[in-house]
Amino acid sequence: MSSALQASAPASASPLLRPLTFVQPGRIEYGAGKARRLADLVPGWAERRVLVVADAFNAGRADLLGLPPQHQIFSQVRPEPDLPNLDLLIDQARGFAPDVILGFGGGSAMDLAKLAAVLCRSAQDFRDIVGVDKAEPRTCLLVSIPTTAGTGSEVGARALVMDPASKAKLAADSHHMVADIAIVDPEMTTSLPPAVTAATGIDALAHCVEAFTSRRAHPLVDIYAREGIGLVGRYLARAVADGSDVEARAGLAMAALYGGFCLGPVNTTAGHALSYPLGTRFQVPHGLANAVIFPHTLAFNAPVRAEKSQVVSELLGFKGQDLRAESYDYCTALGLEMQMSKMGVAAHDLQSMAEEAHAIRRLLDHNPRDMSVTDIVEIYRAAL
Ligand SMILES: [Fe+2]
Repeated sequence: MSSALQASAPASASPLLRPLTFVQPGRIEYGAGKARRLADLVPGWAERRVLVVADAFNAGRADLLGLPPQHQIFSQVRPEPDLPNLDLLIDQARGFAPDVILGFGGGSAMDLAKLAAVLCRSAQDFRDIVGVDKAEPRTCLLVSIPTTAGTGSEVGARALVMDPASKAKLAADSHHMVADIAIVDPEMTTSLPPAVTAATGIDALAHCVEAFTSRRAHPLVDIYAREGIGLVGRYLARAVADGSDVEARAGLAMAALYGGFCLGPVNTTAGHALSYPLGTRFQVPHGLANAVIFPHTLAFNAPVRAEKSQVVSELLGFKGQDLRAESYDYCTALGLEMQMSKMGVAAHDLQSMAEEAHAIRRLLDHNPRDMSVTDIVEIYRAAL
C-alpha cells in the first residue's frame, strides 16, 4: 500500500484507533497450475505485447507461461538489483513499449517489473519516484508471479534498488506499482533447492514477525502476520526436507503472501534494517541475511513485546525458554549458515555496518525498542 495514506495517529494509542489503508492487487490467483494458465487469466492475452522481467534461470523457463507471439524477455535481473541493472531494463521496456509487464521470479524481478511498469511510458526516471506516491499512473498491465516463497513482493507497492555509489537501497512506493494480477502458484517453487527454500522462508517469517511486533502493528494486519508465522512454523522444515511436498510448498507460498500483506501497511523494522548491509556490502542473499540477524533482533525486542514474542515462540513450536537460542537453533536446523564471519564479514566492518543500518530510519523508527549504534554493533558481534 501507499505509505502516504498510512495511519497518522500516535503509535501509543490503541491499535484499534489507528486508521489504515490496505491496498491489494486487483486480483489474486492462488493455486497450483495457475501460472501455466495465463492465457485464461489475462484479458486479451494472445494479442498482448508482453515483457517478462526475470533472472537468467526463470527466463529459461518462461516458455511455461504460454507467452503470446509479441513478447520480449529481460533476463538480466540481478540478486541485488542496482541502478545500472534497472537502467538496462528501462531501456528495453521503452524500446519495446509493452502493454503487459510480467514480473517472474523472486523479489528482485517483481520489484524491477513494478518500476518498469510505471516508467516505461513516462518522462519520469527512477530518481523522480523514490519516496512515496511520486510515480505517475501507469498505462500497462502489471502481473506478478513469484517463483520463491519469501518476498511477498507480488502484492506490494514498493520496489528497492541499490545505488552503487552509496550502497544504500532506495525505495519507491506507489499504489500505481501494485500489480493488477498476482498469481501465486506453489508449483513454481518446487524446484527451489533446500538452502533457498530455508532462506526465503525466513524472509517471509521476518516480514510477519517484524510487522507483528512493530510500533505500527495493526489488528487488521496482525491476522495475516500471525497466520503467516504459523504457516512457516508448520511447513518450512517440511519443504526444506522434501521440496516435492506440495502441501508444504502451498503453505509457504501462502505464508509469503501473508508476509506481503504485512509489508505494505506496516512494514519491517530492525531485522531488515540490520540485514541490508549484508546484502549491499557482502552480497549475502536477502533471506540468508535476514536469518542471521533474526534471532538477535527477536530477542532484543522481546522485553518490550512480551506477549507477542510469546505468540511467535508458540507458533514456531519453541519451548519458550530462550527465544534467542531457540530461534537460532531453529534456523541452524534448517541448514542455514548463522555466522556472518562465514559470509566475509570481519570484526572491523561492524561499526560502519551499524552506522549504515542505524541510518535506515524508515524501518528503525518503527522498531518497538529504540536501537542505538552501539546496540547494533553488539547484535552484529553476537551474529559474527
Ligand atoms: Fe524481506
